[in-house]
Amino acid sequence: MALAHVRKTVSPSGYRGLRAFDSLSLARSERDEQTHFGLPVIPFEEIEHHYPPEKYGLFIPIGYRDVNQLRRERYEMGKQKQYNFATYVSSRASTWPDLSVGENSLIYEHAVIQPFAEIDKNTIIRSGAHVSHHALVGDHCFIAAHAVIAGNAKVQDQCFLGLNSTIRDNISIAPGCIIAAGALVLNDTEENGVYVGVPAVKLKKPASELNLE
Ligand SMILES: CC(C)(COP(=O)(O)OP(=O)(O)OC[C@H]1O[C@@H](n2cnc3c(N)ncnc32)[C@H](O)[C@@H]1OP(=O)(O)O)[C@@H](O)C(=O)NCCC(=O)NCCS
Repeated sequence: MALAHVRKTVSPSGYRGLRAFDSLSLARSERDEQTHFGLPVIPFEEIEHHYPPEKYGLFIPIGYRDVNQLRRERYEMGKQKQYNFATYVSSRASTWPDLSVGENSLIYEHAVIQPFAEIDKNTIIRSGAHVSHHALVGDHCFIAAHAVIAGNAKVQDQCFLGLNSTIRDNISIAPGCIIAAGALVLNDTEENGVYVGVPAVKLKKPASELNLE
């Protein structure tokens, strides 16, 4: 959250910085603060009373906690409150004019998103990640730094790809998967699976039982 705040504040892309922090997403010690990084801290439940959706948009840059479940819930709450969402693509990312990115998605510097690739909504692509041509990254995903998604591969909704992981071309990562740091995935995966190693193998524990914070 704080990282996203700094980025939006210094970004040359025209954003003016977040207007408020969601107090429930802050560490317990920070929740009692009136401000955080100089911005007001307000309960998310009350946000529409302070910043009505007719006048303000939302941006929810929560990380991958619980395989992105927290960010998904907050995004869906924001939709219910009828907010429009921002989308942020770093001016230092490499993208092409046909770039397709959904709302509340965040693409960091030095990410490469090739032509004909698609990034859906509420997804974070970290620095140096590579999303190759015709690849798809679904909703509510987190792609860590230097992950590589090869041509025509599909990463379905609510997946987590660890640092330096590699997804081979033409394969499909099923919804809710965790791909470990450094894993090399050569075949389609099963829903809610955790895959580690080179080549990647599935752990017994499902992704929903890992404490991903
Ligand atoms: C996959 C992951 C989530 C598993 O975490 P965990 O639940 O704490 O799992 P454990 O450490 O108990 O490991 C379980 C088993 O998987 C193996 N394993 C875990 N991560 C591995 C990895 N990245 N590569 C190879 N093997 C791995 C462990 O050695 C262990 O094997 P064992 O049972 O034979 O001893 C974690 O290791 C990981 O890769 N996290 C991603 C880190 C990352 O990219 N962060 C991005 C920050 S922006």
